Amino acid sequence: MSLDLHDVTLTYPDGDGRLTALDRVTLNVPGGGLTAVVGPSGSGKSSLLAVAATLIAPDRGTVVIDGTETTGMTRGELTGLRRRKVGIVFQQANLIPSLTAAEQLQVMARLDGRSPAGARTRAMELLEAVGLAGQAARRPHGLSGGQRQRVNIARALMNDPAVLLVDEPTSALDHERGAAVIELITGLTRRRGTATVLVTHDRAHLAAADRIVQVHDGRLRHTAAP
Ligand SMILES: Nc1ncnc2c1ncn2[C@@H]1O[C@H](COP(=O)(O)OP(=O)(O)O)[C@@H](O)[C@H]1O
Ligand SMILES: [Mg+2]
Repeated sequence: MSLDLHDVTLTYPDGDGRLTALDRVTLNVPGGGLTAVVGPSGSGKSSLLAVAATLIAPDRGTVVIDGTETTGMTRGELTGLRRRKVGIVFQQANLIPSLTAAEQLQVMARLDGRSPAGARTRAMELLEAVGLAGQAARRPHGLSGGQRQRVNIARALMNDPAVLLVDEPTSALDHERGAAVIELITGLTRRRGTATVLVTHDRAHLAAADRIVQVHDGRLRHTAAP
């Protein structure tokens, strides 16, 4: 499992011109390790994840997900690839208010055409893994912020992604809950061999990372061991 970005440039329309959000970015994320991405606000971290997730097509350069080159794929093909291969955890959990924690996960499997019974079993396993076995029947309003974020992570893992993309997952959590979420992501990455990218503003999380990538004005500055 791996994620590769090669010579990726992304621009956005900006008045009469274009704003360069990613400037010739090359990044290889091997499976089984945590790659942390740090950088000031507006440096391009979320854009990097959006391109890696194939949610935005870059102006140039290539994105290769678990060996599949995504350039030239149709919208439908990309949606299928994301469902099978990519887990995405954004800052806000975006859970569906009317669904229980277990159902939030089961919906993902149904989209992927799995059997309802298999989906239920898998959902319960993952909720157990994130320490929420006892909360499976609760709806989002009955969960704490930390618990919602853990449901969010479990949901991203529902279809066994090769690539896990996580954008500042602890910004709404206190220090202790944030640390628990990072520990969870690190453990799952190592056990499942996932190619994981973690965007974080919290220096305390970098100790868990196998590699640290700094983003500055859309450029990757350097990569250092923690
Ligand atoms: N959809 C968009 N349209 C135009 N400009 C954008 C858009 N998204 C982000 N930007 C700009 O691109 C740059 C990088 O943003 P972003 O990737 O969100 O950075 P970060 O996540 O590091 O804060 C910023 O200058 C931001 O204002
Ligand atoms: Mg961001």
